[in-house]
Amino acid sequence: MNTLPRTVTGALLTLLERDGVLPGTLSTRVYRAIRAAILDSTLKAGDRLPSTRTLAADLSISRSTAEAAYAQLEDEGYLTRGVGSGSYVSADASAGRHARKSRLNAAASPALSKRGTQIASMGGCVDARVVRAFSAGMPALESFPVEPWQKLLARHARHDASRWMMYGDQQGLPALREAIAQYLSLSRGVHCDASQVIVLTSSQQALGLIAMLMLDDGDPVWLEEPGYRGAQTAFSGGGASIVPVPVDNEGLRVDEGLRLQPRARLAYVTPSHQYPLGVTLSLARRLQLIEWARQSNAWIVEDDYDSEFHYDSRPVSAIHGLDQHERVLYVGTFSKVLFPGLRLAYLVVPRQMVSAFVTARSQVDGHASPLMQAVLADFMQDGHFMAHVRRMRELYRARRDIFMEEIDRHLRGRLVPLAAQGGMQTSCLLADQRLSDQRLAGIAADVGIDLPRLSRLYLGADKRNGFVMGYSALAPADIREGIRALARIL
Ligand SMILES: Cc1ncc(COP(=O)(O)O)c(C=O)c1O
Repeated sequence: MNTLPRTVTGALLTLLERDGVLPGTLSTRVYRAIRAAILDSTLKAGDRLPSTRTLAADLSISRSTAEAAYAQLEDEGYLTRGVGSGSYVSADASAGRHARKSRLNAAASPALSKRGTQIASMGGCVDARVVRAFSAGMPALESFPVEPWQKLLARHARHDASRWMMYGDQQGLPALREAIAQYLSLSRGVHCDASQVIVLTSSQQALGLIAMLMLDDGDPVWLEEPGYRGAQTAFSGGGASIVPVPVDNEGLRVDEGLRLQPRARLAYVTPSHQYPLGVTLSLARRLQLIEWARQSNAWIVEDDYDSEFHYDSRPVSAIHGLDQHERVLYVGTFSKVLFPGLRLAYLVVPRQMVSAFVTARSQVDGHASPLMQAVLADFMQDGHFMAHVRRMRELYRARRDIFMEEIDRHLRGRLVPLAAQGGMQTSCLLADQRLSDQRLAGIAADVGIDLPRLSRLYLGADKRNGFVMGYSALAPADIREGIRALARIL
């Protein structure tokens, strides 16, 4: 990417002067000036903009004015803001087609079906590509046992070439399915055998397949509010009509779901550790949910994404094990417990549905990499997997403690952490709810801090401002440094 010459700030200033006759707040004028520069190609794709601090100083405006302008440009797709790396003109923007406009254009294109239009207009799922304070849900990659993994990888690569070079089992390597079924029965209380396990590349793929096979257009789906965006995109993309159901300190308000839409076809829940509020779904609510699913022939999608990490109490078993009526589709991933680049996850379905899911999966991408599945199967069977889980549980617990202490020391009264009995991140509310988490996240991005916004995870108008802050991947010194930098910003 190019580095924007300092003189371009001067050009922005000129544009701002030109714009002077038009009405609007100062931040709107800065926004318009930059947008105009992008649309007439004064600023080109990949150009780096000055930091909000520099822009504010150069234009003699306040930092929050500059930040508001950048935030709007980012929201509309003109800018891409990489944490720590600065703000860049988006790839689509200089051709006069900024991302949102092109999304909307794509959405309006006669080339796309109604469903295609819906999918294109939602935007994609974005995951952090680098580890930094306080990206959420990132494992401690430096603590991964690379040595045994490499040995297993080398062994399979050397000896079983014909097995891993060919097309593989569409349901997943039997040895890996065995290992997963055994792990789920012993550690998560899931009642299943290997024949019900389907190995996939991600939980996201599991949600997509569920949407594909279980939903018709307009079918109502309960989603936790606030909740996981990946589930929203998968089910909306599948044509569902989303019903946001509030979460309180016992998890999903099943009574509210029943009031809002008792005829929902499916409910998506993260019961072990609600994403993003961190609460555990109470036993009473689990039973209520199962009873609702039984009575209305609905499905429960249980996403158990980071249940391995619980610190202060015994883990609660999966809903799957409580359900006598086969209404639960259980989703798990190795992205959190091992590493996300592995791209292996699984879905457990009732026996009579296995064949439909495997068929649908074969239509999407065939199967996951046989080599990686073989390595993972041995990694689990040889005991490395459980040993790693235990080590990471201790490591993340210690990091959670440091994170909480540092917040208490430097941010008390400004940031309020919610339940953090498990997982890899904790949602923290802004004590002053009049502050915008969007604006603060933008300012933090300028100094290299990633603050995933809580308000983005609400679908309704009643949002809370805060951040979903990850700590699991951060060394103690990085946690301390990050919290101090944040204290200066807040
Ligand atoms: C609730 C939840 N489910 C699933 C995932 C991701 O899993 P995968 O990488 O397998 O799609 C995440 C990642 O942040 C998550 O927060």
